[in-house]
Amino acid sequence: MLRPWKTILNLEFGTEKSVFQQIADQLIAEIIKGRLKPGMSLPGSRILAEDLGVNRKTVVLAYEQLIAEGWLEAFYKKGTFVSEKLPKQKQRRKQINEDSMSALKNFSFTAFNEGVPINIPTDMPLIVFNDGLPDVKLAPLDELARAYKRIFQQKARWRMLGYANERGEERLRTAVLLMLSMDRALNFNLNQICITRGSQMALYLTAQVLVKPGDFVAIENPGYRPAFDVFKRAGARMLPVKLDEQGIDVKELEKLCKLQSIKAVYVTPHHQFPTTRSMKADRRLELLRLSNQYGFAIVEDDYDHDYHFGSRTLQPLASYQNAHNVIYVSSLSKLIAPAVRVGYVAGPESFIDSLVALRMTIDRQGDPVMENAVAELMEEGLVNKHARRALGIYRERRAIMTRLLETHMKGLADYEVPEGGLAFWLVFKKAVNTVQLAEQLLKTGVQVISTERFSFDEQPLNALRLGYASLEAEEMERGIKLIAAACY
Ligand SMILES: Cc1ncc(COP(=O)(O)O)c(C=O)c1O
Repeated sequence: MLRPWKTILNLEFGTEKSVFQQIADQLIAEIIKGRLKPGMSLPGSRILAEDLGVNRKTVVLAYEQLIAEGWLEAFYKKGTFVSEKLPKQKQRRKQINEDSMSALKNFSFTAFNEGVPINIPTDMPLIVFNDGLPDVKLAPLDELARAYKRIFQQKARWRMLGYANERGEERLRTAVLLMLSMDRALNFNLNQICITRGSQMALYLTAQVLVKPGDFVAIENPGYRPAFDVFKRAGARMLPVKLDEQGIDVKELEKLCKLQSIKAVYVTPHHQFPTTRSMKADRRLELLRLSNQYGFAIVEDDYDHDYHFGSRTLQPLASYQNAHNVIYVSSLSKLIAPAVRVGYVAGPESFIDSLVALRMTIDRQGDPVMENAVAELMEEGLVNKHARRALGIYRERRAIMTRLLETHMKGLADYEVPEGGLAFWLVFKKAVNTVQLAEQLLKTGVQVISTERFSFDEQPLNALRLGYASLEAEEMERGIKLIAAACY
């Protein structure tokens, strides 16, 4: 609704410019700004005159002038309207936008080009081999909705709507710490953990707090590009380290340590991303030894701890006795669902204090309602129950994938049945242009991840990472057959 005309039209009496002219000019200005749009009706001359405290004839004069100039149109018995023949407001808007852009052109913006968007399935019926995401159709949605409802029904529920603890709700931190100590042999206290919106935020904050511009940071290559990006963004000089059967090549890492002081090493030891391999105990001990000897921090990204099919789950590096410099990052994205943005970072108290202070400059706190709802699910054992059920389903799907690969891909690619995680890593026996392969497959309705995403130099790899957990048997079969056909 328009404000009273008195406040829109600012009339000055006793000036050189006549009042009718002021009314006419100001109405034109409002039309040009787009606030009075073509076709809009104007008040009758009597009403406007009363509103403005002027003689009716003054308004009539202004209207007549604007009608003569084509700004307004009058229709018998209907009233006066802004002319429909005027250039449409859209065009005016465009001009305004262009004007403001031209002013902003002089600003220099920081370009953020690193992020690689996750392939979101389009409407096309695609078979998507994603990068190892859980099947969101299995997520404990009803349980989560019930927990949400209960939170809004409890006494003092209004508390939930105020500012909250910047480290995350104590209830959730307590539940996560209990899970970490029971399932992962990790012992942190409440001040050594900060709940973040997913592990991506935890990695970003970690990099910002840990790394100063120019510091050396070693990363696994191939590896997880969004993690490369956060370290680069913090100004790190990146040292890609190759992998061998056991994980990050510690010999190469030690050579690098001898050449320069390394600030941090980022690893995914539980299920290396993208190769899915678990880092074995001796390699873990060697990495910790190097960290203690050369004084670098280990950023351990334990992104999908819960889905391990092997007989024994190796405990995180951070749980080892001599893990003095390990920062532990994990999340519930794989355990519950990626859209439940609950991740966490745990480490020395002083480190977490700095991280929390930084977090507050971009995000005052997390989402207390979601955090309490998730805590409730954890306390009631529903998250564990869900994990057990999902693990069973993924185990079956992994077996189906294994059979399909045996049948259709054996001659084409080498692979291991992954001990854990929700993806297979296939290395082609002969050279395959995987960029072209991805494009070709897309035409047949199959989506795979472009492999240049995994390598530090952004060169495509002779391999594929096939996330299988969200696919039904029939989709997997069609998908694998099409991949095999495209490779022959
Ligand atoms: C290796 C790795 N780290 C971190 C993440 C980030 O997960 P989120 O931010 O959803 O917790 C992912 C997500 O797929 C991942 O694969």
